[in-house]
Amino acid sequence: MVKVGMPKPCSFVKPCHLVKPVSVTRISGRYLTHQRGLPTLPVPPLQQTCERYLSALEPIVNEEELQQTKTLVDEFQKSGGDGERLQRALEKRAENTDNWLSEWWVQVAYLDYRLPVVVHSSPGLVLPQMNFSDKHGQILFAAKLIAGVLDFKSMIDNETLPVEYMGEKPLCMNQYYQVLSSCRIPGLKRDSIVNHARRSSPPKHITVIHNCQFFVLDVYNNDESPLTVEQLFGHLKHICTSSQHPDPDPVGILTTLDRDSWGKTYQNLIKDKTNSDSVSAIQRSIFTLCLDGAMPRVAEDRSSAAVQMLHGGGSQWNSANRWFDKTLQFIIGEDGTCGANYEHAPAEGPPIVALIDHVVEYTRRSEIGQAPVLTSSAVPQKLHFNVSPEMKKDIDEAKHAMNKLAQDLEMKVVVFEHFGKNIPKTYRMSPDAFIQVALQLAFYRMYQHSCATYESASLRMFRLGRTDTIRSASSASFKFVKAFDNASTQNTEKVELLEKAVRAHKWYTNMAISGQAIDRHLLGLKMLALEERSSVPAIFTDKSYSKALHYRLSTSQVPSKTDCVMCFGPVVSNGYGVCYNPMEDHINFAVSSFNTCNETNAETFAQTVRGALLDMRTLLEQTPKAKL
Ligand code: COA
Repeated sequence: MVKVGMPKPCSFVKPCHLVKPVSVTRISGRYLTHQRGLPTLPVPPLQQTCERYLSALEPIVNEEELQQTKTLVDEFQKSGGDGERLQRALEKRAENTDNWLSEWWVQVAYLDYRLPVVVHSSPGLVLPQMNFSDKHGQILFAAKLIAGVLDFKSMIDNETLPVEYMGEKPLCMNQYYQVLSSCRIPGLKRDSIVNHARRSSPPKHITVIHNCQFFVLDVYNNDESPLTVEQLFGHLKHICTSSQHPDPDPVGILTTLDRDSWGKTYQNLIKDKTNSDSVSAIQRSIFTLCLDGAMPRVAEDRSSAAVQMLHGGGSQWNSANRWFDKTLQFIIGEDGTCGANYEHAPAEGPPIVALIDHVVEYTRRSEIGQAPVLTSSAVPQKLHFNVSPEMKKDIDEAKHAMNKLAQDLEMKVVVFEHFGKNIPKTYRMSPDAFIQVALQLAFYRMYQHSCATYESASLRMFRLGRTDTIRSASSASFKFVKAFDNASTQNTEKVELLEKAVRAHKWYTNMAISGQAIDRHLLGLKMLALEERSSVPAIFTDKSYSKALHYRLSTSQVPSKTDCVMCFGPVVSNGYGVCYNPMEDHINFAVSSFNTCNETNAETFAQTVRGALLDMRTLLEQTPKAKL
């Protein structure tokens, strides 16, 4: 049985010495020893989850719906009921697996998900604008970036990557072993992931995409040493010279299709031996490097760059200059715009960002020495595709669907410059909780009600842990947002309500990262009911359950050392995707919504969040009780 109590507050400790591994020589078995020492994910007590589920519903369902759900929950958890039986089965599964949840989660959240991965699942990451604005600068930066990734890869290969900690607790490092040399494969009903990193002959090449043409670039010399920046520069120059015009039949665009259509097209594509060899080379490659053509800049801020990283801007720009199934794609524009796109199934944002932080730092230190050289050992090979008339039709359809999706997505990147983590810390509040409460206030100001809100919480304190949900809309946050603009409420009371809302959020966060949140537990119970093929208990077909899963606010904190911001699309048609990176004195936000929904507007929401943060600070400044 799991001991339940108030988990200790902890914070994510990012490795501060990534560039220097703990050892430069291989430490065989270190990874497995570390992994074996991690605790397994607990199964929370049934009654606890039922109680917390009802509390979580309070701010987002009406009284009648809540009463109906209470009756269903009582029925579910009664002695000898469905809940007890499923709970026992879940505890048994937990005893017999490394992690009772992770495999299900990857399946349900990613591999069974049939909307396109682009916008709907794969996040983009925008790096600070780099200091170049022509082809030469683009290629030089790309060469340094490849060298930086290979440097990071050597720490993964040698098992010398420093272990990360959350507070005192070491974290699961498995995701680092999943992001390179892996790829998603489309299926007819369910996709799969292949990982070539730990095979007997791991890949030694990357895929470079330029003008929608694909090239294999070997990045190791015959003596196993990584290519130098000079060598890489020479090869990239050769690739660009030999692909000066866009491919008229860009197969990469097919990876933007919905997964069922892509699964079907994929079967046809790989019937041809040349195509199948080319696809296999992309899938096996360590990562993809997309050398992008120019893009229109519609805004002064980083919103256009976010669009480029998230979906490429449509088929007329860079959406076909990608292989969206690839776990990790680095994207470099000619004008100094840089970033990445990653397929979400194998990993969350933080390991990707840690890798990228390392790479950015590496590119800053790395200078090109000798003149570029082209060694005969590793001349890049173009990948060829035979495109049938049927395939041409699929490509046209994919272009059409991608362009529609690109037009539908509104993306706004905002740098909130007034303060960062510093101000909430001054008032002894968790910065993340403070930001989440501001998001609640902004939503309430726009819609006069609260909505189901998702924030990712890391479960990496546990072996093979992925995420659970922090439900940011709480009764405490609801009381605060209702009172905030009410002229008859005193400031001292507003501050008390703010403090309570922030504490409630931090409490939920600590419960979630300790494996005691409700969402994955309920999912596990539901998955078992489905596996048993018994009828699914009524709590899962209840209106409140659908409301609880309709996340109009889907949010995530992805911190980094580099001044970057991650971005993703909304998860429901009338929702917002909000990703933020709280730095010490400013916060980077990326807010998305769909243009086809006339209830939502990313720009307005971003401005409302800005107003909420400022007003919350003013409240604290003007209220004596809050002063330190
Ligand atoms: N008073 C003063 N300082 C405080 C404080 C308080 N009451 N509470 C927290 N702080 C400090 C922390 O010590 C920490 O300090 P640091 O800047 O020196 O690191 C900082 O404020 C941030 O803490 P907090 O804002 O509470 O957030 P967190 O770092 O604990 O992160 C989550 C919270 C939920 C984001 C994190 O636990 C998590 O799970 N992250 C992973 C999310 C994820 O996977 N996202 C990707 C999905 S693709």
